[in-house]
Amino acid sequence: MNPKRRPILAGNWKMNMTATQARELASKLIPLVSAVKDRDIVLAPPFTALSAVADAIKGTNVSLAAQNLHWEDKGAFTGEISAEMLLDLGCRYVIIGHSERRQYFGETDESVNKKVKQALKKGLLPILCVGETLAEREAGMLKDIIGRQVTVGLKDISVDDMKKVVIAYEPVWAIGTGKTATPEQANEVHALIRQKVKALYSTEIAEGLRIQYGGSVTPENVSTLMAMPDIDGALVGGASLKPESFAALVNFK
Ligand code: PGA
Repeated sequence: MNPKRRPILAGNWKMNMTATQARELASKLIPLVSAVKDRDIVLAPPFTALSAVADAIKGTNVSLAAQNLHWEDKGAFTGEISAEMLLDLGCRYVIIGHSERRQYFGETDESVNKKVKQALKKGLLPILCVGETLAEREAGMLKDIIGRQVTVGLKDISVDDMKKVVIAYEPVWAIGTGKTATPEQANEVHALIRQKVKALYSTEIAEGLRIQYGGSVTPENVSTLMAMPDIDGALVGGASLKPESFAALVNFK
């Protein structure tokens, strides 16, 4: 954590929670985090629960995110969701290029870049996800993979727009596996990402960029992760599905 950057804690509910369950989860969470003033709190329910969660968080310190969007404004794209639809439901953020989307739904750095550009054009704040697989790490490709994901993912993003981007570093081998990167391992990659952004933009942009860590973050390990100088938040899957555990995480000391 760096006092210059406001921490951002986001819960990625993935394909969990009906609208009814989501409303209940959000309603239970709100009183547990309402005193938090110095951190951004974000919930990313599935599309079908966005409206219910938007209702539940109205007027609170919790913001809404979607888990994906399409890069076109509208039209014949069966099954897809546009930025305008998300904005209309009250979304402020959108997660883009999560490794599960890259792995199971064929998303590439190029399609991820189109989505980041569309989000920014329409006024949504993108949370761009990057991360290496275990095989890539073991093959010594970490730097190349992260460098490519950052460079291509941010292609043609202006300096002004870059101020609105959040990056989430999620090593694929740590997602949902209970294996967390050590705080040092995570910080090393965060520093690498910051370095890359500095080379692509400027020191000022790099120093202002918020980089979340994701991958088996829990109330038990969040404080040691957040103590690292380049870790500015967490993108949380499993531990965000229970109000008590996500609240404990948000309230880390
Ligand atoms: P996890 O998921 O916390 O369940 O590991 C993190 C993520 O995929 O965003």
